[in-house]
Amino acid sequence: MDYVTKHKYSTQSPDVYWKEQAELLTWFKKPEVILSTNSDDWHDWYADGELNTSYLALDYHIEQGRGEQIALIYDSPVTNQKQQFTYHELTEQVAKFADVLRAQGVAKGDRVLIYMPMIPQAAIAMLACARLGAIHSVVFGGFAAHELAVRIDDAKPKVIVSASCGVEIDKIIPYKPLIDQAILSAAFKPSYCIVFQRDMLKAELQENRDFSWQALMVNAVPVPPTPVKSTDPLYILYTSGTTGKPKGVVRDNGGHAVAMLYSMRHVYGMQSGDVFWAASDVGWVVGHSYIVYGPLLAGCSTIMYEGKPIRTPDAGAFWRVCEEYKVKALFSAPTAFRAIAKEDPEAALMQDYDLSSLERLYLAGERLDPATYHWLKEKTQVHVIDHWWQTETGWAIASIPLSTQQQKTKAGSAGLPVPGYNVEILDEHGNPTEANKQGCVAIKLPLPPGCLSTIWQNSARFKAGYLTSQPGYYVTGDGGYIDDEGYLFIMGRTDDVINVAGHRLSTGEMEEILTDHPAVAECAVIGIHDDLKGQVPLGLVVLKNGISQTNEELVKELKARIRAEIGGIAALKDVLVVERLPKTRSGKILRKTLRQIVDGEEVMVPSTIEDPEVLAELSPMLKMVRD
Ligand code: COA
Ligand code: AMP
Repeated sequence: MDYVTKHKYSTQSPDVYWKEQAELLTWFKKPEVILSTNSDDWHDWYADGELNTSYLALDYHIEQGRGEQIALIYDSPVTNQKQQFTYHELTEQVAKFADVLRAQGVAKGDRVLIYMPMIPQAAIAMLACARLGAIHSVVFGGFAAHELAVRIDDAKPKVIVSASCGVEIDKIIPYKPLIDQAILSAAFKPSYCIVFQRDMLKAELQENRDFSWQALMVNAVPVPPTPVKSTDPLYILYTSGTTGKPKGVVRDNGGHAVAMLYSMRHVYGMQSGDVFWAASDVGWVVGHSYIVYGPLLAGCSTIMYEGKPIRTPDAGAFWRVCEEYKVKALFSAPTAFRAIAKEDPEAALMQDYDLSSLERLYLAGERLDPATYHWLKEKTQVHVIDHWWQTETGWAIASIPLSTQQQKTKAGSAGLPVPGYNVEILDEHGNPTEANKQGCVAIKLPLPPGCLSTIWQNSARFKAGYLTSQPGYYVTGDGGYIDDEGYLFIMGRTDDVINVAGHRLSTGEMEEILTDHPAVAECAVIGIHDDLKGQVPLGLVVLKNGISQTNEELVKELKARIRAEIGGIAALKDVLVVERLPKTRSGKILRKTLRQIVDGEEVMVPSTIEDPEVLAELSPMLKMVRD
């Protein structure tokens, strides 16, 4: 079937299309009902089906004779360690760790919070939860204690699984003090913590609450997978919204397994036995989908890389891994390649490695800027594919169909809608726009399998955030257009979410933290252009009267607050102390206009501006940030 026919078929007869895909999985109870509406007025996939995701990702492959194939490769230039697990070995570790969790009282439906660096135990813990039908919530290791506490209070995990430390370039980050601090400040108290003790730093364990992973594994016995309903949650993954409270995106088991297998085959072109590498982190959706679940469900070998694109030890690191493990497709964020291109503009280090196994490069997390697209294409001579998705969808909404990819990719475009996604551009009245006209990017319902089933314990937020403004559509929060050949161009968020080095962050949350400072009367945080990280946050604050601290001291304190509350990944580029902020007559701060001034774009001043003088006052200062 060609792309156009396949896409039409998938959107016109979603139940038939996705029934065929579901048949490729081994269910404990095969679904008869493919697409149905639930009591929350949302659609369920495979409502009467039963399966186990850990079984499909592990035991199933052993049954198919792949037990001795490598399932997971751990490569850690920051610790000089390498390790490989066959499907047999990984299954045994997962089944035993499931026993450890069970012994701590974890059962089907219980939540387990996983706060871990990029080590195999992170994937083992995720799969062990899936084996028991427990719901994991992985928190990115770069988040600080406050972020952890917010997630503990929302997910209410029975157990926290962690490691004694993370290892970044030139520094060791002790995790246990962060967990202790988070538990102290959270209202909900998890019963136990399981800590994987790493050689470079051992954590202190609190009696009766904290246990060493290694000690608990000694007497563990493998447990079999527990059947769960297709609609039972597999995981909650928190992502930034427009407020200080992150949204707990809930993923089901059945739709997710179907979507993961489908996307591995049809978006990434991977077959069993191929090596797939998503150079991301298990704390993000890319890590969930394409470090852990996707490659394992497809019987591939996956790579967990604990390192950076540069400085571990140099800008040839990615090419070294591709050669060493014969990677067939590599997926990372554009920022990683901008970092490599900056250090090694001629790609001289690439020449040291044999990249003959590498067929395709996939980019996501932010728009692949045309300069990086051309650089990658020229230097690697492989297919460079920008594809667009979000935590909520869990897999690509747009990409380049494999059958046509050799014919056409377009610089700056995220490709064509993937089968299953009926993408439209809507104007401010909710009407589809004509080709090449920008608007809000929306997906006509139903969403295909694998997308979010709700926001954890908050279906009202789910509906208000995604479904209400354009009835019959899921609103993505991105703006963009479709050209006359059907290619989608994603031009950025229409809300207060920004992308810093491929990390999705909320400026609203940063504003809440700044406003909490006793000297701050009001503030705005905007995402401004950065050549390396895509965007970085910039703060503007108006101070209360009678503040005795110097501006210099205050700026230092405010920057430290953001680091302490969210983490180093959210470091503010700067904080400008200003007299007034530009607003509309109804009091809305003109963040977009501020950003346009800093980024040197055409400045659109809304007619509803309260006092144009404020912008005139601020402009020289804002332009200096750019320079
Ligand atoms: N645990 C603890 N701290 C972390 C961390 C983690 N997992 N990840 C990042 N940090 C810290 C860093 O140590 C750094 O701290 P510092 O300011 O005290 O030095 C800070 O957070 C910012 O880190 P980062 O955003 O990674 O910036 P960088 O300048 O160190 O590196 C890049 C820049 C582009 C090399 C890096 O951001 C990168 O590799 N990006 C790819 C991102 C990616 O894969 N995203 C996933 C989407 S697919
Ligand atoms: P996250 O939920 O962290 O994956 O971030 C999702 C957001 O990142 C999207 O809503 C987009 O704003 C942005 N994004 C991801 N991939 C792309 C892409 N290929 N092109 C443009 N923006 C992207």
